[in-house]
Amino acid sequence: MRFSDRVVVVTGGASGIGLATAQRFASEQAKVVIADRDSQRAETAARQLRAAGAAGVLASTCDVAVEAQVKATIDAAIEHFGRLDVVVNNAGLMTFRSLGKLTQEEWRRVLDVDLLGAFYFIKHGFAVMKPGSAVVNVASIHAIQTSPLDAPYAAAKAALLSLTRSAAIEGMNQQIRVNAILPGAIDTPMLWDNPNVRSGAESIDPKDVGKPAHVAAAIAFLASEDAAFIQGTTLIVDGGRLARL
Ligand code: NAI
Repeated sequence: MRFSDRVVVVTGGASGIGLATAQRFASEQAKVVIADRDSQRAETAARQLRAAGAAGVLASTCDVAVEAQVKATIDAAIEHFGRLDVVVNNAGLMTFRSLGKLTQEEWRRVLDVDLLGAFYFIKHGFAVMKPGSAVVNVASIHAIQTSPLDAPYAAAKAALLSLTRSAAIEGMNQQIRVNAILPGAIDTPMLWDNPNVRSGAESIDPKDVGKPAHVAAAIAFLASEDAAFIQGTTLIVDGGRLARL
C-alpha cells in the first residue's frame, strides 16, 4: 500500500472532494486527520472511515483561515500519529456578487480561506514534515477561466497556483513536493449550490461532471512516490471540459 504508516491531513475533509480524498488515503492504509470547520460533520466522516477499517482517523475542528487553529491541527496530528507526511489543502469557499457589490470583508474571507489557509498549512507543515513528504493544493479550473460573479474565488485559486510554485521552490530544500489539482465540475454540494450553475450562467453538460473519487485518485497520485519527480506543477482533472473548443 502506498500510504502505509503515512499520516495525511485533509482540510475540508468532511464533505465532497475532501471526504473522498480522506476515504482514498484511508483505503491505502494512511492515518488520516479530517480537518474541517464543521466539527459535527468531521466527526461523522471520521466514524465512517473507522467503520470502513481505516488504520487511524482523527477529526480536528479547524477553520483554515485561523493560523492558530491550523497550527493546533498539525500539533494534534503529530501528537496522535507521531508524524505528518501529506497535507491536502482542499477547504474552499465561493462568493457570488458583482464587483460593484463585493465588500472588502467578502474578498478577505475568500482570500483567507482559499489562499492563506493553504499558506498556514505549508508554513507550519514544512516545520515538521520530513524529506519525501508532499503537499497537494486543490485549486480549480477557475484559476484559468472563470464565470460571472466569482472574482475573489477565481483570484484566490489563481494565486494558489502561484503559491504552489513558490512553495515547491522552498520545498526542494527539504525534499518536500508541492503540486496543485485543478478540478472541473465535480458532483459535490459546492457545485450544486453554485447560483451560476443553478441559473445556467455557468452551463454544465452532465457528462462533464466528475465524481469526488476522480479528484481523490489524482490527489493520491500527486502525494505518492509515483509522482516523485513531479514538483511545482498543476494537474487538471475535468474530463476534458477545458480542452474542448
Ligand atoms: P464541499 O462544499 O462539498 O466541501 C467543502 C468542505 O470544506 C466542507 O466540509 C466545509 O465545511 C469545509 N470548509 C469550508 N470552509 C472551511 C474553512 N474555512 N476551514 C475548514 N474547512 C472549511 O466542497 P467541494 O466541492 O468538495 O470543494 C472542495 C474543494 O474543491 C474546494 O477548494 C473547491 O474550491 C474545489 N473545487 C470544487 C469543484 C466542484 O465542482 N465541486 C470544482 C473546482 C474546485
